[in-house]
Amino acid sequence: MHILISGAGIAGPTLAYWAAKAGARVTVVEKAASFLASGQNIDVSGSALEIIDKMGLMDELRRLNTTENGTQLIDQRGHPFAKFPVKEGGASPTSEFEILRGDLATMLYEATKNLPNITYHFYTTVQKVLSNDNDKVQVQLSTGATHSYDLLVAADGQWSKIRTQCFPAESIRVVDKNMMAVYATIPRIPSDNNWWNIYFALGSRIVATRPDPYGTIRATLTRMPCNAAQKEAWQAVARSGPKAQKELLRREFADAGWQAQRLLDGMEKAEDFYLHVFQQIKMSTWSTGRVICLGDAAYAPTPLSGSGAGIAIIGAYVLAGELSKLILKPDENGSENVSEIEHPRTALHAYENIFRPFVEQTQGIPFFFPAIVHPETPFKRWLTQTFLWTLSKLVAIPWVVKLFGGGQDEKEEDLPLPSYARFEPGGAVGAEEEKTAVLDR
Ligand SMILES: Cc1cc2nc3c(=O)[nH]c(=O)nc-3n(C[C@H](O)[C@H](O)[C@H](O)COP(=O)(O)OP(=O)(O)OC[C@H]3O[C@@H](n4cnc5c(N)ncnc54)[C@H](O)[C@@H]3O)c2cc1C
Ligand SMILES: *[C@@H]1O[C@H](CO)[C@@H](O)[C@H](O)[C@H]1NC(C)=O
Ligand SMILES: *[C@@H]1O[C@H](CO)[C@@H](O)[C@H](O)[C@H]1NC(C)=O
Ligand SMILES: *[C@@H]1O[C@H](CO)[C@@H](O)[C@H](O)[C@H]1NC(C)=O
Repeated sequence: MHILISGAGIAGPTLAYWAAKAGARVTVVEKAASFLASGQNIDVSGSALEIIDKMGLMDELRRLNTTENGTQLIDQRGHPFAKFPVKEGGASPTSEFEILRGDLATMLYEATKNLPNITYHFYTTVQKVLSNDNDKVQVQLSTGATHSYDLLVAADGQWSKIRTQCFPAESIRVVDKNMMAVYATIPRIPSDNNWWNIYFALGSRIVATRPDPYGTIRATLTRMPCNAAQKEAWQAVARSGPKAQKELLRREFADAGWQAQRLLDGMEKAEDFYLHVFQQIKMSTWSTGRVICLGDAAYAPTPLSGSGAGIAIIGAYVLAGELSKLILKPDENGSENVSEIEHPRTALHAYENIFRPFVEQTQGIPFFFPAIVHPETPFKRWLTQTFLWTLSKLVAIPWVVKLFGGGQDEKEEDLPLPSYARFEPGGAVGAEEEKTAVLDR
């Protein structure tokens, strides 16, 4: 089976790794000219962590951690008033495995770029899907070349071009979460610490800073528009580019307080200034024929879920696992038979059946969130602060953490990884089938 993956972000390289392990030949095309190591602090937990572990990348993940000690809330005078240290009880927005998105993507790329049967082509895109039928999916690449594959995977992020081309518009829903964030890397100053510092400014604004392992600070300003006029202003600048975005930010955050002014100044010079409009992607089905969307392209959950990278990794693993069941089947003599390749639809449907309920759960962000952390008035801010302060005291008590589903209980909300014979250590091809055969006898 020859698979073409579009996009070398998080989902793409993870799928490449597991699909190659399943016995497929994998080609990855990436739009960027060289590896794109950009992005903000993200965390990896639960089953996604288990997959990273199975890939032998735990030490690397640890090594690349963002050095964040925990999360703390900052009051109007700039003092921390509620602390959620990492590890103690486990109930902290900071996880044990914090990493920059770019470092995670780089790590996955480095771990796959030299594997046999995986080839990366940068500065290359799928220009056109020429045909998608029972036998093959045929594409024209930006290089002008035309190739055929058994499967095309769109792992090209939230605004996937392949999705737009291959799926009817009515099967794709963009769900607006009424929130925007701007990100920028700014110089570190001596008074900075290694915490995720979150300050609730009034008027539904948040000012936040986080550490990274490179001696700089990752700054974020988030905003929930309070009325239609504000929303329209943000949507307009989202379309018109960084200059207009920075002007609007300056107007809207000038009186926010705490370090807002420093962040606004720092963002002017930042090379990675980036505005993100929080919108989820929901598709009525993830595949059509031999084309399937994966990761943000299929089910971007927004950073509010804190799981976009997680479900990109788990999705890639489960998809490869289901494919592994049909790629290589032992023939009568027990040798691998790769000449007969079925249409992958059985695997694509099995994958979607297993994974869709988990994705829907992940995308289901409670209705009061993110508004609760974007207070508009002093009274609402007092309520939020009091609630979070109380929480920070309570989570120091382990039984409360258990009661509210933090720490250990988090595992239960996770997707237990299906086991695939091919992926087990020393996992022989068709080991499952062989076992059944023995039992039958
Ligand atoms: C601020 C922030 C915080 C986040 N926090 C978390 C968190 O705590 N935990 C978490 O799990 N997730 C988090 N996420 C989400 C996470 O980063 C994404 O969900 C994840 O990166 C999705 O991976 P992906 O591979 O599907 O897409 P991407 O990482 O977006 O990769 C897509 C790739 O496709 C390439 N591409 C685009 N168009 C084309 C094309 N036409 N042809 C070829 N290639 C193309 C892009 O260059 C890119 O390399 C956060 C995101 C943000 C912005
Ligand atoms: C995080 O990385 C630093 C080096 O940047 C290392 O000293 C530290 O031990 C790491 N922390 C964890 C929890 O692995
Ligand atoms: C905070 O981070 C620093 C730097 O990574 C580390 O040396 C220290 O042990 C951390 N402290 C806690 C409480 O985690
Ligand atoms: C690469 O794929 C070919 C079949 O396409 C297979 O014979 C070979 O074993 C694969 N190599 C590895 C290392 O998996």
